[in-house]
Order: sequence, then C-alpha cells, then structure tokens
Amino acid sequence: AQLFTESDCLKGKKVLVTAGGTQEPLDPVRYLGNRSSGRMGYAVAQALQEAGAETILVSAPTDLPAPQGVRRVSVQTALEMHDAVLENFANLDVVVKAAAVADYRPATQAEQKIKKDGTNRTIELVPNPDILAELGRRKTSQVLIGFAAETENLLANAQEKMHRKNVDLLVANDVTKPGAGFGSLTNIVSFLFPDGRRIDFPQMSKLEVAQNLVGEIANLLGRNKG
Ligand code: CTP
Ligand code: CA
Repeated sequence: AQLFTESDCLKGKKVLVTAGGTQEPLDPVRYLGNRSSGRMGYAVAQALQEAGAETILVSAPTDLPAPQGVRRVSVQTALEMHDAVLENFANLDVVVKAAAVADYRPATQAEQKIKKDGTNRTIELVPNPDILAELGRRKTSQVLIGFAAETENLLANAQEKMHRKNVDLLVANDVTKPGAGFGSLTNIVSFLFPDGRRIDFPQMSKLEVAQNLVGEIANLLGRNKG
C-alpha cells in the first residue's frame, strides 16, 4: 500500500544528483567537453526536491537555472565533481549520477593560450577517476543510480555497467533515437535492476522520467530499511 503521498515520499532523505557535461581545460581559453545539456539531471533534482528530499545538485556548466529549493554546487572538471560528490557521500541516502563525466582529461594544462604553428598536433589524455564505480565500491546503505547513454548494444552495455559499478538501478537510453538523449526535452529510457527486472518506458518528458525514477528510489529506500 502507498503509505506516503507523492509530495513527501522522500521527506528527511538526503540526496545528491550530478548533472551536465564536465569540461576539461586544455589552456585558459579551451576545453574538451561533450553534448550533455544537463536537462535530465536537473529534472531529477527537481523531482527529488518536490518529493521532499534535501537535494544537492553537483552541476557541471549548463545554461539552466537551479531548481527551486535545491542546493547547487558548481564544478567544471571530472576531478572537481569527484571531490564534491565524495565529500558528501557518507551523509547521503541516495546518489543519482546523471552527469556526462569526461572519461579523459588533457595530461597537461597550458598556462598560456596554445599558439598554432601549422603542424599536426596530438593531445595526450589521461584517464579520469570513474566516480560512480568508486561510489559502488564504497557504498554502505546508499541507494546508487547510474545512467548509461549508448549508441549501440544498449541493453548489453547498460547491464554490464550496472554490474561493474554496483548500482541499484541503471537508467539506459539510446541517444541515437529521435526524442532521446542529448539536448532533447524528452527521453526514451529503460530502468534496469540487478535482479534482472527491466521497465521499458515510452517517450516521455525528462521530468516524467525523473518522477518515475523518484518512485523507484522510494521503493529501493523502503527495501533497504527491511
Ligand atoms: N561516470 C562516472 N565517472 C566517470 C564516468 C562515468 O561517475 N568518470 C558515471 C556516469 O555519470 C553515468 C555512468 O557512470 O552514471 C555511466 O557513464 P558512461 O559514460 O555511460 O559509462 P563509462 O563507464 O564511462 O563507459 P563508456 O563511456 O566507455 O561507455
Ligand atoms: Ca564514459
């Protein structure tokens, strides 16, 4: 039976959402980035806040306003996001990792603007930490939610990520579909669970995806309590 109304089903819970695409500086005027708009993560933060949760939004640069009542912490790089998330992790009930985190960063950051000289250039990249995988190794009672944006073999890739990162729910979306993924106002997703359950949703607004996610998070928190 539904014991709580929608509006307070996460009352008293501390949650953290990451959103946006990290930017990895090359020099003072350039960075490596990706096509994430931040919309999916911002919708998740809004839906969690509306469900009564105390919500921190660790955000890479976006053009979006912070949702009402949400505490936004702005970061630029994957390393900054890593530190902001880890700093809070012990006190959290839920982490939703909707950010598009750069897998690599330039090995060095030039202090001055890099000048062209007409020759070929190579940028050496070094791996960034996998924030979600690290949370998966460290988690005690936290509910962990991951996202996977794929362009091929959606379910197989997503399932592999779910297990590798030890998450409780993975939101998989095929970013090649029209109406899904980067920049879109809507999304077409599946929720995957470690016990093999899967929920396939039709095309919905990102806020509706977020509201469905909040419902599942409330279920998962209820189960943790025993
Ligand atoms: N993620 C993370 N830290 C990283 C890379 C990814 O926390 N350095 C998180 C993302 O926020 C997302 C999930 O891991 O919730 C899956 O990200 P994705 O890029 O799809 O997976 P990767 O493990 O990076 O694999 P690949 O890019 O090679 O497909
Ligand atoms: Ca990646």
